[in-house]
Amino acid sequence: KANEIILAIETSCDETSAAVIENGRTILSNVVSSQIESHKRFGGVVPEIASRHHVEQITLIIEQAMTEANVTFSDLDAVAVTEGPGLVGALLIGVNAAKAIAYAHDIPLIGVHHIAGHIYANQLVQPLEFPLLALVVSGGHTELVYMQEDGSFEIIGETRDDAVGEAYDKVARTLGLPYPGGPHIDRLAHEGKEAIELPRAWLEPDSYDFSFSGLKSAVINTLHNVKQRGEEMIIEDVAASFQASVIEVLVGKTKRAARQYEPKQLLLAGGVAANKGLRKALTSQFAKSNIELVIPPLSLCTDNAAMIGAAAQSKLRKKQFASFDLNGNPGLDL
Ligand code: KG4
Ligand code: ZN
Repeated sequence: KANEIILAIETSCDETSAAVIENGRTILSNVVSSQIESHKRFGGVVPEIASRHHVEQITLIIEQAMTEANVTFSDLDAVAVTEGPGLVGALLIGVNAAKAIAYAHDIPLIGVHHIAGHIYANQLVQPLEFPLLALVVSGGHTELVYMQEDGSFEIIGETRDDAVGEAYDKVARTLGLPYPGGPHIDRLAHEGKEAIELPRAWLEPDSYDFSFSGLKSAVINTLHNVKQRGEEMIIEDVAASFQASVIEVLVGKTKRAARQYEPKQLLLAGGVAANKGLRKALTSQFAKSNIELVIPPLSLCTDNAAMIGAAAQSKLRKKQFASFDLNGNPGLDL
């Protein structure tokens, strides 16, 4: 068959999303319903509220994705779904919807790892060339992933404590900014200057691991001390100083990994890939190298089902199908 069409579903956190993808590269539709407004007043995602929203939204979102793509269930070659990691109650809604469709219409079911999805979001921009290196930065993950070939994932470095997005959100909360705080800090950072000295967590010289909890604590302590001295803090400068530390370490480690692994491409992935400062720093760092830097547009950086459909394509090609005992797995390994 010339064109393979996948319906993909993503419900791992606070976005209910369904997409229809052609040949793993073309988006026929990508519907995303965000619940951010419902979680904002709690300062973070409340798992039970997330599950309830997914239940209410899932059928409507799938219908909308099918309609926008102008396809029927009989056109589908597979239905793909995020099986983990994520919130178990949230994952289950997507997994069960996918199973029901696969069973009712007798089409193959494919389970996708959420991080594989973030990485393959880049395939919607550019064909992937292996070996490649991916910097995955989101609210739940901070990882450097080496891919020798399609479908093989080696985590060469990861965070030992907070994920980078988590650090952004916690610092933002301390500054009194709304959830999720990443975009607010990013915006303020561009209006401030790097006036506050903050640590860089390089860890052991040969390590590709990350650590952001010390930086987060340093920001909180600095704010506390400034307050005690009765001085005025310039929130833009705090944001600029924090962001400078984060970016210096992320880019520094990525650069060193690129020298060691000599990938053809460097992919940026995950919600924090929306960060303007990080995009700019990586772009200028890799401008003169022969490694191709691929960065997804903002809409494909944060959680969406199109990326799940892109990742599912290589599993469809290899016929790596799931059975009907597929379950949501909050701690799924890449
Ligand atoms: O990938 P994602 O949508 O969900 C997870 O799988 O975690 O990432 C969400 C994270 C949040 O922590 C949010 O604050 C962060 O991405 N984020 C940003 C920016 N936009 C979103 N962090 C820094 N700068 C941004 N512009
Ligand atoms: Zn994500």
